[in-house]
Amino acid sequence: MARALLLENPHPDADPILADAGFEVVRHAGAMEEDELIEALEGVDLLGIRSTTHVTERVLAAHPGLTAIGAFCIGTNQIDLRAAARRGIAVFNAPFSNTRSVVELAVAEIIALTRRLTVRDKALHGGVWDKTASGSHEVRGRTLGIVGYGNIGTQLSVVAEALGMRVVFFDTAEKLALGNAHRMGSLAEVLAVSDVVTLHVDGRAGNAGMFGREQFEQMKHGASFLNLSRGFLVDYSVLREKILDGSISGAAVDVFPSEPRKNGDPFDSELRGLPNVILTPHVGGSTQEAQENIGHFVANKLSKYVRAGSTDLSVNLPRLTLQPSDAARYRVAFVHRNTPGVLALVNQTFAEHGANIEGQILGTLGEIGYVVTDIGSELPREAIEAVREMEDTLRLRVMVRPGYEDADGGEA
Ligand SMILES: NC(=O)c1ccc[n+]([C@@H]2O[C@H](COP(=O)([O-])OP(=O)(O)OC[C@H]3O[C@@H](n4cnc5c(N)ncnc54)[C@H](O)[C@@H]3O)[C@@H](O)[C@H]2O)c1
Repeated sequence: MARALLLENPHPDADPILADAGFEVVRHAGAMEEDELIEALEGVDLLGIRSTTHVTERVLAAHPGLTAIGAFCIGTNQIDLRAAARRGIAVFNAPFSNTRSVVELAVAEIIALTRRLTVRDKALHGGVWDKTASGSHEVRGRTLGIVGYGNIGTQLSVVAEALGMRVVFFDTAEKLALGNAHRMGSLAEVLAVSDVVTLHVDGRAGNAGMFGREQFEQMKHGASFLNLSRGFLVDYSVLREKILDGSISGAAVDVFPSEPRKNGDPFDSELRGLPNVILTPHVGGSTQEAQENIGHFVANKLSKYVRAGSTDLSVNLPRLTLQPSDAARYRVAFVHRNTPGVLALVNQTFAEHGANIEGQILGTLGEIGYVVTDIGSELPREAIEAVREMEDTLRLRVMVRPGYEDADGGEA
């Protein structure tokens, strides 16, 4: 029986989905270092990890026969995606299963900062009764500036408007403004009008250090600032200075340039101990609901890849959205180097061996090509072997419709 190894405790709902796809699921609670992982992958077809285990070129070179990797999280920096693609190993993640959780934390923090909630809370815990409206505002009618109008930014836009906020945003890509949100032509325009500025851009290399002195100085006096996206985007030493001189009235920060690897490891930041600054340990997406959503999402992607060859939302292979065929006897999923003439050669090979093609779909992504072919006739073993032997073949997988298990369903 094929085996799936799940590390770092993805949600248990993943198990029955993978079992249903024909896998014996084996779990290991913690992350693994490289050597331990190489050993543990012996006889494993599917690997599931979260953010701590690193799947390096060396790991992949030791196990080129892995079928797919599921990152039960959002980021995929911990996986060498190109090395996986070069071996025809599909990688899936859960790009928006925790979006709502991040949005809800941002909303809570926008209100908390605007009411100076943590300042009052801290005073009262310290035995100081300080009942005052000074510096406290309703969020209704105030302007929220969203930088990065993607999955999180757009959903925050909708929820903030429901609270009566005016929403402006800036995104480097062309984006549809939802509800009454207003698209601004530049980051500076957003900063000039916003009472609260919140960062939701992605972690592309060009964004490193995008928010520093110049941007803080373009913000309205007394505005507040949130970063729940990536730590390396922001110069927190400038933020500290601006909080201390009162030009920024508060901040909520969930992500840091360097974060402890595990619970209990020491943490330090120039933002510690500042008034009206909320610090959270990268928990924007950490809710029970998000974990459950991620478990379902990634396990289903893996299952659809194994059963139907669907690479919908794969992060390293060309994306083809496919359902299992109820007509074809065989489905041949073929990952190859994207060079001219490969498809013609595959089809010629099938034709020479009398295999009749019922349907075919091709996708390419840079140096990788992925073609899925449905065969309605016999599929002689020699045809599979001939394609497998082709110079540009990276991976060949044959899915067999029940009742036609006489073909070779092995891996290249
Ligand atoms: N704190 C957490 O626990 C947590 C959880 C999930 C996601 N995140 C982070 O939140 C961020 C947003 O996630 P998402 O799912 O909405 O991403 P996304 O890819 O859907 O959206 C990012 C948006 O930012 C835009 N963008 C990129 N660079 C920009 C720039 N310099 N200026 C303006 N716009 C820019 C992109 O065009 C895109 O629309 C990511 O960095 C992600 O890693 C954090």
